Amino acid sequence: MKDKFKSLFSPFTFPNGVTLKNRIVIAPMTHWSSNPDGSVSEIELKYYARRSAGVSAVITACAYVTPNGKAFHGQFAADRDEMIPGLRKVATAIQQQGAKAILQIHHGGRLCPPELVPDGDIVSASAVPAERPGAETPRSLTIQEIEEIIDAFGEATRRAIEAGFDGVEIHGANGYLIHQFFSPHSNRREDQYGGTLEKRMSFPLEIIKKVKSVVDQHAKSPFIVGYRFSPEEPETPGITMADTLVFVDVLANQGLDYLHVSLNDFRSTPRVGVEDFTKTRIEYLLETINGRVPLIGVGSIITADNAKEALETGVDLIAIGREMIVDPDWVQKIQEGREDEISIVIFTDQQEELIIPDGLWEQIISRPGWFPVKER
Ligand SMILES: Cc1cc2nc3c(=O)[nH]c(=O)nc-3n(C[C@H](O)[C@H](O)[C@H](O)COP(=O)(O)O)c2cc1C
Repeated sequence: MKDKFKSLFSPFTFPNGVTLKNRIVIAPMTHWSSNPDGSVSEIELKYYARRSAGVSAVITACAYVTPNGKAFHGQFAADRDEMIPGLRKVATAIQQQGAKAILQIHHGGRLCPPELVPDGDIVSASAVPAERPGAETPRSLTIQEIEEIIDAFGEATRRAIEAGFDGVEIHGANGYLIHQFFSPHSNRREDQYGGTLEKRMSFPLEIIKKVKSVVDQHAKSPFIVGYRFSPEEPETPGITMADTLVFVDVLANQGLDYLHVSLNDFRSTPRVGVEDFTKTRIEYLLETINGRVPLIGVGSIITADNAKEALETGVDLIAIGREMIVDPDWVQKIQEGREDEISIVIFTDQQEELIIPDGLWEQIISRPGWFPVKER
């Protein structure tokens, strides 16, 4: 390995005492390939195993915590105990390759397609549709239903513990239900869950509290709890960087093992809500966090030099998404001093060789610009 990349391979210890062998983790990525009932399929086990040998941890695709939270065809489930044996296979497939396994837990809220949820009953913080073509208007959740969903995040955590995962990541990003409660676009409530910035934080904070209490009660060894968030959204009204910095200041005191910002580019700068637009979002977050909790950075880290540059911003860990699909040996190539051999495109004849499940492959080839796809 080249000296300049050594820092990527230094171990990292979470506040709970769990140590990772290096600074590189796989970002959570949905793969549209679980069985229709939410159970785990053979191909997804192979997909994970192929990508788990170099990284120190794998954050899985998001798993739904209640039947009305399913947002993707082929999404896997953590909403009932019968899913535990399949979840155990995912955790084992990852751990056998030497990485820690972290289950991302999720509710899709207003972004769930009606055909995937019972009676097509789509729910959210308020009855406001997403600003997307053809978006459905959701129904506003009752207080009792909100409490049931908070409990469901706790139950999904218990299942993750029983399935042998090393941790969970609470999916509070990318426009899904937890994000919808924090957003002034989707949350127009006037009860304890909405109305002010502080009240919009209640739902995520209660979920964190519930998840942590389940861990205290059920985990026999240290169990990682992380929280993922999106720093801004384009809608008006919408989450601004200023809102996020207030939220992150609170999140940093919740006894979490890490925060994980969701970005498409780790170098991106704020859209609105700050004074200095030359500073990156990561710089703002690190300044606010001030060492209180580890931060995972992500977004368009493609080359070894990108990874080094991302880690030098001061984040504790970096997550790699698309590039791990493009080149499953990305980490090993850097470790072996062969970083110039990293593949940065997927050729259209490589699905089988790269062990990419059908559902994910269809997304890759049908969404131009998302992945670097080429004909040979
Ligand atoms: C195919 C695909 C599926 C994704 N699914 C999820 C998901 O389930 N949960 C999540 O938090 N982010 C998801 N993301 C976002 C990634 O975690 C990551 O933030 C994003 O791809 C930017 O990182 P990258 O440039 O390294 O790919 C997904 C991204 C891709 C490409």
